Amino acid sequence: MPAAKPAPDATIVARDARRLSTLLEVSQALSGTLNLKSSMQRVLQILIRHHGVVRGMVTLLREGELHVEAIEGFDDRARTISYKVGEGITGQVAQSGKPIVVPRVSKEPEFLNRMPRRADVARNELSFICVPIVVQRATTGTLAVDLKFKAERDYESSVKFFGIVSSMIAQALNVQRLVEEERRRLVDENTHLRQELRERYDFSNIIGTSGPTRQMYEQVAQVAQTNTTVLIRGESGTGKELIAHAIHYNSLRAKKPFIKVSCAALPETLIESELFGYEKGAFTGANTRKKGRFEMAEGGTLFLDEIGDINPGTQVKLLRVLQEREFERLGGTETVKVNVRLIAATNKDMEKALADATFREDLYYRLNVFTIFVPPLRERKADLLLLADHFLEKFSREHGKVIKRISTPAIDMLMAYHWPGNVREMENALERAVLVCDGAVIHGHHLPPSLQTADSSGTVTRVSLKDAVAGYERDLILDALKTTRGNRAKAARLLDTTERILNYKVRGYGIDVRRFKTPEVGRRGPADAAELPRDIPVAASR
Ligand SMILES: Nc1ncnc2c1ncn2[C@@H]1O[C@H](COP(=O)(O)OP(=O)(O)OP(=O)(O)O)[C@@H](O)[C@H]1O
Ligand SMILES: [Mg+2]
Repeated sequence: MPAAKPAPDATIVARDARRLSTLLEVSQALSGTLNLKSSMQRVLQILIRHHGVVRGMVTLLREGELHVEAIEGFDDRARTISYKVGEGITGQVAQSGKPIVVPRVSKEPEFLNRMPRRADVARNELSFICVPIVVQRATTGTLAVDLKFKAERDYESSVKFFGIVSSMIAQALNVQRLVEEERRRLVDENTHLRQELRERYDFSNIIGTSGPTRQMYEQVAQVAQTNTTVLIRGESGTGKELIAHAIHYNSLRAKKPFIKVSCAALPETLIESELFGYEKGAFTGANTRKKGRFEMAEGGTLFLDEIGDINPGTQVKLLRVLQEREFERLGGTETVKVNVRLIAATNKDMEKALADATFREDLYYRLNVFTIFVPPLRERKADLLLLADHFLEKFSREHGKVIKRISTPAIDMLMAYHWPGNVREMENALERAVLVCDGAVIHGHHLPPSLQTADSSGTVTRVSLKDAVAGYERDLILDALKTTRGNRAKAARLLDTTERILNYKVRGYGIDVRRFKTPEVGRRGPADAAELPRDIPVAASR
């Protein structure tokens, strides 16, 4: 049997127990807050209280020098002291990454002892221990302590103990660094996203050059830089929200939030708590105070969408905010003042709503300071081709397809349609067309059924095989003629047929070949120019 180990000395057991409880306290001090300077201060205080430390100091490396981060037991003037790496014992520890022990400070010539001593710290003999603080294998600072000199002190075990404390400090520094990096990443990302938003809602992304659209641009430009309340009116899908965004991102408030409230989407009871927020305990379930959208939009713009649908009770409250720029949170008495620019939008017939008394006249006059009417798409058909091009490019890119253009018959169909759903309907129609298109050209049959009935489309009106095939054949011939600028021999070769057959079909379908011999027009290429129906002005590029 091996000899039994001698029982550990009772004083060593007591020392280890004390060290363990100290380490626990140290870890609590370091994890309690993100303010590391004050937690390091606490760590030094703990060491002084329990471990015979007379005074202590933490230095951190910044720009090649060690700066005092926390001190305890020194005069306050010591906070401004810094060491060069390699200078004195602290500097050597930082340089080598290895701890240094000076059992008797009075016997050590290298001991700089530049630190101003506090009057109440005794001038007895001291021992000095300095350990590096290592974060991710790089020395980033030092932990140094002065201990009362004791001849019997076990320096090796003391260095181990202070090494553990320093590695805990290192861990806390590392966490702080990660948090800081994450914060910086989020700030960068946020800046980037804001920039993207600003670009997305730049004027140049509102497509159109027709008279009514130009007039609208002028109004937007006029009002954007002011703080005036704007009411945007127009049918569904005309681009009201797009314009609200454009106003905000071209205003002086562009860097502040743009907050949207969809008044129609929220039930009556919810809308007030959404708009004005609530205090804790305002109603069952209100466990904490919540900011309303008015407060969230502070300094920026609040967009009240579908304002025509707002209930009478909320209309009264809204009127007060518009008049006095202040309100109370639900269940609260404190008056909240806000600096918010208001933009409202509606597709409702407001005159009728006023006549029916479903909308308050006084609120309407507050909102109706500067009104922008967004014309329906059918009244600005000159924008249609530009919009079609824009959406074609956008969705081709999004869906990774190479679609070059829209065939003449398909354009005729787009032009003939009355677009009750306005730009949104058109956007959807083109996305669908891009998705179902299997070649490089959008043809009439790629467009949604609602457009297929148009007379000018020349495509099927009834779904019979003969008509469908004929429609497709006609599309192909028109297309080939356009590519060859009306040259029938070339078109026949393209379609792998004879000129005689092509001529026969051209006559049969009543195709006017001269139409494809039109000279170059506008910004569109020569081939595309031919595809413009003759009665439509070519939109100049903005
Ligand atoms: N002039 C335009 N140029 C480019 N895209 C547009 C234009 N007008 C509208 N759009 C697009 O059409 C879609 C519908 O626009 P928006 O949501 O702004 O319409 P709205 O008037 O707010 O409709 P609703 O009344 O139904 O809410 C959006 O995807 C928008 O980007
Ligand atoms: Mg809208």
